[in-house]
Amino acid sequence: MLTREDNEILTRVGPGTPMGELMRRYWVPVVLSGELEAGGRTKRVRILGEDMVAFRTAGGEAGLLGEYCSHRRVSLYFGRVEKDGLRCCYHGWKYGLDGRCLEMPNESPETDFKHAVRHPAYPCRERGGIVWAFMGDPAHITEVPDFEWLGLPDNQRFISKYYQDSNYFQALEGGIDSSHISFLHAPLDTADQASLENIEKAGFGVDTAVGTSDRSPRFEVVDTDYGVMIGARRNAEGERYYWRITQFIMPFYTMPPPQDEDPILHSHAWVPADDGHLINWTITWHPTRPLKEEELMSLNTGFSAHITKYGPPANGPYGDVRPAATRAADYGMDWEAHRTRMFCGIPGFGMQDRAMTESQGAIFDRTLERLGTSDTAIIQVRKCLIDSAKLLRQEQAHPPGLDPKLHHVRAASVRLPKDAVWVEAVKDRVHIAS
Ligand code: FES
Ligand SMILES: [Fe+2]
Repeated sequence: MLTREDNEILTRVGPGTPMGELMRRYWVPVVLSGELEAGGRTKRVRILGEDMVAFRTAGGEAGLLGEYCSHRRVSLYFGRVEKDGLRCCYHGWKYGLDGRCLEMPNESPETDFKHAVRHPAYPCRERGGIVWAFMGDPAHITEVPDFEWLGLPDNQRFISKYYQDSNYFQALEGGIDSSHISFLHAPLDTADQASLENIEKAGFGVDTAVGTSDRSPRFEVVDTDYGVMIGARRNAEGERYYWRITQFIMPFYTMPPPQDEDPILHSHAWVPADDGHLINWTITWHPTRPLKEEELMSLNTGFSAHITKYGPPANGPYGDVRPAATRAADYGMDWEAHRTRMFCGIPGFGMQDRAMTESQGAIFDRTLERLGTSDTAIIQVRKCLIDSAKLLRQEQAHPPGLDPKLHHVRAASVRLPKDAVWVEAVKDRVHIAS
């Protein structure tokens, strides 16, 4: 349970809020580089409660400007992308990538006051096929993130994103909650081979965890320089424990454990769009080879953690990545499968997660929850974020995990002797040599 005050700190991300200010110390992913065509159309985005338009100048540079024109607040979504900036469609004011007003063509030279106008604009950089923005005070600008998947060729990773109707943190909680795997993503009968195989196809170490038939994992958490490392152990055959190691990396990244010895890895970025919405980025990668056609197909089937089937373009931020399956249609629930085969008859892991965390409401009231020992990781990650936000507000500590070198970590799944010290035993697996 959280106090009302801490729940507010955890979930509110707009400008001036403690969490909003903390998040503004980190680079945020905006869109895929491939979504912005040089000199092409703009895209509406919303991040940390701010409406913006992303575009790529005819000169090839990615830009991010506040959506509403500084003149009379028309949407710059309709703007004209030019060589060095974006021009408002209403009276032709033109903004550079740094937010300076470059031209004010509807004003005579005597009244021209373009030098007095400063439009909201954020620096962008591109890395790993993603446009990143820094939305904080430029005095605090840092290096862009350096996750393993960002340094790979495009054909070794698969990235998708969708817009979710809930606060970022309750979606993130699903990403560090190893115990729901044995329920939400499991067949009703774990001896049912066909269901297990279906689940196996989707990765995420699900079948192995479910296959141990231990449905009450014990959690242990370790604070790190980048966030929290989470160990969840289940009883396994041969006097061993099956450990699933999940990573939380500040401020909104998680890495779920892979299949047993499977080298295919996954991560999420749970990026707050505003207090009641998030952009759920899902990343799958192979560290040493291109993803195979059949692997890409299975990520794209709709059964994996990736949600890639979108509805018709909506008029709003990230309007092109609103899932086709809607809450109103029960997310495609197959009630017959629900009754006879699956713990939850909603097709696809990503969709099951989305359905659960949207069903909590936009921001759920954490004063009403009853946490158990299986919520240990959730408690620790909340504490990491809330404490970091409070300390930053009091100017007592730098936010953790800003140094990109700290990003060189992975999740892992491993069987260990019962007397092994897991943190020691997994060291080589979870740290990537820089
Ligand atoms: S409203 Fe944009 S130039 Fe007038
Ligand atoms: Fe899940």
